[in-house]
Amino acid sequence: MNDMQENVERIMLTAEQIETRVKEVAAQLDKLYEGRRPVVVCILKGSVIFFADLIRSMKTPLELDFMAVSSYGTGTASSGALKVRKDLTTDIAGRDVLIVEDIIDSGNTLYNLKKLLNSRAPASVNIVTLLDKPERREVPMEPEYTCFVIEDEFVVGYGMDYSEDYRNLPYIGVLKRSVYEK
Ligand code: IMP
Ligand code: MG
Repeated sequence: MNDMQENVERIMLTAEQIETRVKEVAAQLDKLYEGRRPVVVCILKGSVIFFADLIRSMKTPLELDFMAVSSYGTGTASSGALKVRKDLTTDIAGRDVLIVEDIIDSGNTLYNLKKLLNSRAPASVNIVTLLDKPERREVPMEPEYTCFVIEDEFVVGYGMDYSEDYRNLPYIGVLKRSVYEK
């Protein structure tokens, strides 16, 4: 019946597992930012669902902003240039910045993004990621907060896509290889 679900090999993380973990991490972030007012940056598009859930679980007063970026890495070095498709509208000089990412793979995107944001003289830059695939890393990139460390498998749902599909699945699933190997 449902095309999206048919293409999912298995559910890796259920909506309930995600909800529980996102609330735990939100509480840790509340502690980190106590007495402060961070600018929380959603990296479009994949982070949008995680971002919406995370900020609603946080009690810290905060500002939102959005960025759309992609990274053209060389595959071998950290020199992969960052393409900024949509930039922040907030002046982050002197501000505490929290980058919200869906998944860290090679690390190129965040490595370059962190460098770019640091050049704007923020008070601090921290990264929270929903998922991390450390096995795939090509450049040094350690997020301050990680909800789940996962194996090297291609996942979709809860904001993440394959060819712009599957973002609205409420869980995180492993995509069938036949979908992208045909
Ligand atoms: P990287 O860390 O620069 O290699 O890129 C991370 C980006 O690649 C993420 O923000 C996603 O957009 C995408 N990505 C990496 N692995 C996956 C996956 O398993 N499913 C969906 N998107 C992925
Ligand atoms: Mg992304």
